[in-house]
Amino acid sequence: MAASYEVRGNVAVITMNNPPVNGLGYDTRRGIAEGVDRANADAAVKAIVITGAGKAFSGGADIREFGSPKALAEPNLLSLILQLEGSAKPIVAAIHSVCMGGGLELSLGCHYRVAAPGTQVALPEVKLGLVPGAGGTQRLPRVLGVENALNMIVSGEPVKSEMLAMAPGQKLFDKIVDGDLMAGALAFAAEIADKRPLPLVRNLKATHPDADAYFAFARNTVKAMAKNFPAPARCVDCVEAAVKSAKFDDGMRFERDTFLALMMTPESKALRHAFLGERAASKIPDVPEDTPQRKIEKVAVIGAGTMGGGISMNFLNAGIPVTILEMKQDALDRGVGVMRKNYEAQVKKGKLKQDKYDQRMALLKTTLSYDDIKDADMVIEAVFEEMGVKEKVFKTLDEVMKPGAILASNTSTLDLNKIAAFTKRPQDVIGTHFFSPANVMKLLEVVRGEKTAKDVLATVMAVGKKIKKTAVVSGVCDGFIGNRMIEQYSRQAGFLLDEGCTPAQVDKAIEKFGFAMGPFRMGDLAGNDIGWAIRKRRAVEYPDLKYSKTADLLCEMGRYGQKTQAGWYDYVAGKRDAIPSPVVVEMIEKHRASLGITLRKISDDEIVQRLVFALVNEGARILEEGIASKASDIDMIYLTGYGFPVWRGGPMCYADTVGLFNVVQAMKRFAQNPRDDAAFWQPAPLLAKLAAEGKSFT
Ligand code: NAI
Repeated sequence: MAASYEVRGNVAVITMNNPPVNGLGYDTRRGIAEGVDRANADAAVKAIVITGAGKAFSGGADIREFGSPKALAEPNLLSLILQLEGSAKPIVAAIHSVCMGGGLELSLGCHYRVAAPGTQVALPEVKLGLVPGAGGTQRLPRVLGVENALNMIVSGEPVKSEMLAMAPGQKLFDKIVDGDLMAGALAFAAEIADKRPLPLVRNLKATHPDADAYFAFARNTVKAMAKNFPAPARCVDCVEAAVKSAKFDDGMRFERDTFLALMMTPESKALRHAFLGERAASKIPDVPEDTPQRKIEKVAVIGAGTMGGGISMNFLNAGIPVTILEMKQDALDRGVGVMRKNYEAQVKKGKLKQDKYDQRMALLKTTLSYDDIKDADMVIEAVFEEMGVKEKVFKTLDEVMKPGAILASNTSTLDLNKIAAFTKRPQDVIGTHFFSPANVMKLLEVVRGEKTAKDVLATVMAVGKKIKKTAVVSGVCDGFIGNRMIEQYSRQAGFLLDEGCTPAQVDKAIEKFGFAMGPFRMGDLAGNDIGWAIRKRRAVEYPDLKYSKTADLLCEMGRYGQKTQAGWYDYVAGKRDAIPSPVVVEMIEKHRASLGITLRKISDDEIVQRLVFALVNEGARILEEGIASKASDIDMIYLTGYGFPVWRGGPMCYADTVGLFNVVQAMKRFAQNPRDDAAFWQPAPLLAKLAAEGKSFT
């Protein structure tokens, strides 16, 4: 049973027991309901205590039941709360550790609440694009006051129980119990066992001295903060209903309707998709969760450049010692200098305490000799992106590293299987593709080579979690998942210039769609010369691949981006503002004329569709080839590494929202455009099949 029952003296204790956080799944709900019935039927029982086993009171809904019939099976949470309210014997919630979402709503249906200090209390539903659905918006304002409650509901952020207990006039907690919570709860139950009538939160009033003005203010604030998300504004509506509804149950009905309507919005679907996708990313179909892991207590990083430094910081931040190896002392000094500057900026902003900074730097060693790193449990190579250089490094690593050490490469484009083949231990070789700046970006593509051992993969996924990354597995292919897709997106951006757009027009359209940065501003930031080098290599490997020549012409003009203060845009020294460049526009126009293209007015819709559906089509091929094991992995990569708008859930989720039939139709249209790449726009077979069957990626 997911809830246990025992009688202590004359108090029945019902303990939710559904690890890890006592999610209110069907079995847990039934267990509670049966316990309450049993206690009411037992003449020896005078009061009931409900608590949670282990690390939580309750974290709320059981996410494993999301979308399944069990989630709504009776007793659902609303029915269960009604049962608690109707209990003839008093019910005390004994709250500790974590009390969130449905867990908090459940406790608000109890007659009394006692809590341990340090409990994280929250209604986080807004983070999934929802409002609380089991009375949270109606009951919390009645016990915490309208403003405190609304702040919690709109932000979804946890607040500590002792803080809440200090709110003037609060009725959320009847008591904060220092020390043994169960002993405190039992003593409290004995105190109130005979008191009648039983207090109910629903019988309290939610009031505000200046309700109209306050809700108008709240609405304005929320609108400005959450313009792409409907849920926060709906939270305001629900709390207002708690104040203004004639009857408690009217407010409940309003909350329920709002909850159900939000459930159907693309924004909530996208947020729930991302929430589940993050968890699903760590599950690899053929690598069981109990796969043994190697111990990673010491890490070495080869190369103290842009990436090596950032990568090292991740480990230092997690308390893992790092040794960085370079070829020359000045490269080491430069690299460590950049890391220091980074940390010092954080200290200055008050984001990092001086002593933490000192502790982190104390974990860092530097060396010019492989002798100093041979004992590392994991080594991450971040040297120049040249196969010859990688070959030398991996041959040396193979010679010097202790047996069982994980040998990782941060390569962004090279064939990991070839790199692994430089060693006699390809099973220990893996790709860890960090994104720049590596100490900031959440994404880590974990590249699984043909021969990478399962325990190596499991270990690196766990390391990813430890250093707070979203780790997603990719198979080996050119560009792996993220960059292979972005290549198609960039190609479309180039064609759009040839056909009539300016860089600013393309960037604006896709930024309006919600991308953090359009392709041309992005190119200027990353350095246009990087793409240039890749295209030169591709020209040898895939001589027929069609590109707009404009990006090469730009590089030939020496316009590499922000670093040369000139790229697709002009830049003023020391500033990052992208200023449209007449020189670039002229270059594009000349190029257009040389191709004999007559300028065409291109709509924002077409720009967005061509860029985003290019991602979708390549993503479908990646899925089909097994490079990604699920569509949500692709979406996680785009949400955490490429600035894809969160409220659209990633390219594959977005395609599902548009409807795959419509996506395929658009692709067929694009294939007719002689300036575009007709072969590319043939819908990937998987996409065509899903569309024909009326199915979706996710
Ligand atoms: P970088 O040029 O900033 O740094 C490379 C560093 O490696 C230099 O400090 C160099 O002195 C050192 N180095 C070169 N050969 C060495 C050797 N044999 N032994 C020891 N140190 C050596 O390059 P960056 O940008 O840090 O890139 C490193 C790797 O990370 C490349 O494989 C690159 O493709 C990959 N990468 C780069 C990203 C970026 O945005 N810069 C993003 C993701 C991956």
